[in-house]
Amino acid sequence: MTSKNIIPQKHSISKKDRSKLTGNKPIVIWFTGLSGSGKSTLVNVLEQRLFKRRILTYILDGDNIRMGLNKDLGFSDIDRKENIRRVSEAAKLLTDAGVVVLTAFISPFREDRLNARKLFGVNEFIEVYVKCPIEICRERDVKGLYKKAKEGKIENFTGIDSDYEEPENPELIVDTSIMSVDEAVNVIEKFIELKLIEQN
Ligand code: ADX
Repeated sequence: MTSKNIIPQKHSISKKDRSKLTGNKPIVIWFTGLSGSGKSTLVNVLEQRLFKRRILTYILDGDNIRMGLNKDLGFSDIDRKENIRRVSEAAKLLTDAGVVVLTAFISPFREDRLNARKLFGVNEFIEVYVKCPIEICRERDVKGLYKKAKEGKIENFTGIDSDYEEPENPELIVDTSIMSVDEAVNVIEKFIELKLIEQN
């Protein structure tokens, strides 16, 4: 709950002013999907491409954010909700600062992703569902966590004993079980092309 004694401060330089400075519109590209679906790989390649085009970006990635800003949070439903709430607000601040934000969080709950979306304008929030069957994520098991979850060494693991609610209306779906990294990033880059152009 926001205190009644908080009075918002007005500053002279607006998001729009910053957007003119950078030459592009700050948007959020919100990647959601199971652990091991490829979110971090895709944001990394996409960021390199945007960087080459001199677009200022920043990645918010689950594993990293959970080592700092959200290191007090675990993997209960309530903690995941708070994780996504804080990350959404952080993304909002970054877009306000003129940065194109790429987020890579499982973000398993529809309601939390919707609340994130609500912080942004139309065309500012692009939800990308990184689709991949759990069997393939389990086979990849890049971090060895599926094995640990199977052995009962991790609880509340997404897709095993914690839910993942598939997006119903994402802007994009990329299926990493059938697309290469480059193919998936091509689709995303093409889609965001127009959204990056500031309409003044
Ligand atoms: S979220 O559900 O709250 O959005 P987030 O994306 O921040 O999750 O963190 C997921 C990462 O934490 C996974 O990629 C994995 O490396 C690690 N992790 C550790 N424990 C779990 C767990 N119980 N469920 C899912 N991921 C976990």
